[in-house]
Amino acid sequence: MSTTPSQNQRVVSGMRPTGKLHLGHYHGVLKNWVDMQMNHECFFFVADWHALTTHYETPDGISKHVEDMTIDWLAAGISPSSATVFVQSHVPEHAELHLLLSMITPLGWLERVPTYKDQQEKLKEMDLATYGFLGYPLLQSADILMYKADMVPVGEDQVPHIELTREIARRFNHLYGREPGFEDKAEAAANKMGKKSARLYRELRKQFQEKGDQEALEKAQAMLEAQQNISLGDRERLFGYLEGAGKIILPEPMAALTPAAKMPGLDGQKMSKSYGNTISLREDPKDVETKIRKMPTDPARARRTDPGTPEKCPVWQLHEVYSNDDVRKWADEGCRSAGIGCIDCKQPVIEAVKAELAPIQERAREYEENRPLVRSILHEGSEAARQVARETLDGVLEAMRFLHRD
Ligand code: TRP
Ligand code: SF4
Repeated sequence: MSTTPSQNQRVVSGMRPTGKLHLGHYHGVLKNWVDMQMNHECFFFVADWHALTTHYETPDGISKHVEDMTIDWLAAGISPSSATVFVQSHVPEHAELHLLLSMITPLGWLERVPTYKDQQEKLKEMDLATYGFLGYPLLQSADILMYKADMVPVGEDQVPHIELTREIARRFNHLYGREPGFEDKAEAAANKMGKKSARLYRELRKQFQEKGDQEALEKAQAMLEAQQNISLGDRERLFGYLEGAGKIILPEPMAALTPAAKMPGLDGQKMSKSYGNTISLREDPKDVETKIRKMPTDPARARRTDPGTPEKCPVWQLHEVYSNDDVRKWADEGCRSAGIGCIDCKQPVIEAVKAELAPIQERAREYEENRPLVRSILHEGSEAARQVARETLDGVLEAMRFLHRD
């Protein structure tokens, strides 16, 4: 809701189980998640249903990948005591919310999501003219709205999915956030905050509604976030009353763009499985050495005595990620003057990658040897996620006027 980061902001993100992760995932996503789990309430999950939307013909590998990927997360520093780590399909509430949201989602919104056509073109060998594939971004919306996330750390390519999520939330609140006597209920809710807070709330609301004062809106939202003594329903009313005429049952999330720390691959392109230029998190140290040794360098340095230009060399990009100023200066000068050879230049990078991977691999080995522990982490995470999910879903069902089940 509010734009200032705070302790109680919720973060949700997921990853499709693609098997073992590589340094690109580590630098691009996981380190960011590890940072976030310290200051936010985080939900990180393995999106196995999303994997099925493209790999429904070959589901065999998926469950193995779920566990392997979880091990990599844990090895990279995701901590089950700081973040809720779970499997999407173990929280079937996601499917229920997806179904309910599908009722209000115009087909055109889904057809217009850029990844829909892009991926169909890119993955020509698969038949992606399916209902499930069209619904991919809506399932993602359900994943996010389920936890009333404030922030969703994702890469650039996922931003349209977050946009869709915001539109779905807005549409949902517009359709179902109206209730008889809303204004009276909101006024009564304001009074429950106590005299002083109620007065401040009304003042800020007036400033926003009459003058469009954005700062007043944010102040009021921050104030509501901090309120301890009001019910969830009243909080939704007060949020909704600030801006319009209904409850905000599903708040709109924001995309938290993963800093484009594009980890260079072994060939200088972005590191990616589809380019075959990766170093996996579980790469054997010997293979790390061999792979980096074999990296192409500036073609101008055909002989040891030929000077080169670091900017034209993929190894230099690794120095930019891994080396301190001194090492970089040494490599830069040595390259330009032909003072060092490429093998010399690669050595500190080899050492740095090995040093980075060593503790990760040590932890991965521990989990690898204790798969029941991994499964129990996922089980507990999924149970914890279900409790939050159930609460949201109850609110959604009530707002949609379903007959109460119990
Ligand atoms: N679509 C995301 C990807 O391909 C994965 C994902 C599924 C996700 N559900 C999500 C990411 C919810 C963030 C929030 O990377
Ligand atoms: Fe690349 Fe280093 Fe060789 Fe220069 S010396 S071409 S930066 S590997």
